[in-house]
Amino acid sequence: MDDYQGILEQIFVEAGDLLGRGKVADYIPALAEVSPRKFGMAIHTVTGEDYGVGDWREPFSVQSISKLFTLTLTMGFLGEAIFERVGREPSGNPFNSLVQLEYENGIPRNPFINAGALVLTDCLVTHTPDARAAILDFVRGAADNDAIGYDPEVAASEADHGYLNRALGNFLKSFGNIDNSVEDVLDVYFHQCSLAMSCRDLARAAAFLAHDGVSPLTDEMVVTDKQAKRINSLLLTCGMYDTAGDFAFRVGLPAKSGVGGGIVAIVPDVLTVCVWSPELAKSGNSLAGTRALELFTTRTGLSVF
Ligand code: DON
Repeated sequence: MDDYQGILEQIFVEAGDLLGRGKVADYIPALAEVSPRKFGMAIHTVTGEDYGVGDWREPFSVQSISKLFTLTLTMGFLGEAIFERVGREPSGNPFNSLVQLEYENGIPRNPFINAGALVLTDCLVTHTPDARAAILDFVRGAADNDAIGYDPEVAASEADHGYLNRALGNFLKSFGNIDNSVEDVLDVYFHQCSLAMSCRDLARAAAFLAHDGVSPLTDEMVVTDKQAKRINSLLLTCGMYDTAGDFAFRVGLPAKSGVGGGIVAIVPDVLTVCVWSPELAKSGNSLAGTRALELFTTRTGLSVF
């Protein structure tokens, strides 16, 4: 068996060389306050072991990684029917782009760009009595950590500066692809993005995707094996936005990033791995985090290819 702890410790040193070369997200002002030199990485194996290095237990803002959990919940409620309202092709555009929505008649390309995520959040507002509580319950259960919470400062900061998301929400509504009030949907969306979770929490919370839909922590079925396959396929093709191709080339794993600097990646049947380093490349993906995952799959030989 691989010496995962030893590998993480080597990567901690090598990926650390990239610290100082990226830029912390500042379009949500509260995110700009994070210390740029943070670095953490965690593994959760399907046999239940945790490994970690650096700041792997420190909560950070998960941002778009939350879209993975809202997709999972929505698939549970609606199954394949969600693909009547959202597509499953990479967008080739920045995650918050408005342009495709107009000529594609209000159907977002995939569930991980902001427009697609807003549609999923709208589904949750429709299908749960309290969508904020449903998302929180889900991630707490999946990570087995009741201390996970929303960061009200980050949620408020994003709401104060959420002009683009507000535009996307209204644009979707004008096409009839948002059922609830745009402000209600945005409130849930800004909160889901503000979830504060550590690398350890995220590696654990995504573990069902490495285990045919069954949580290795609780033995409960989160989604069917077919749905887990579909979510992993979407992560591979769309989880890293318009650099999904480059990420697949360099790392070779289904993964989801967030502008808080986190990336969670799935090695089916083996483990989940999560890395956090707040400085981003131009794409919006963590610079040192991407490098760390590239080193990880190179060293271990683990990838889906
Ligand atoms: O909606 C936004 O712009 C942010 N709350 C989330 C964006 C994000 O994390 C995209 N990630 N790469």
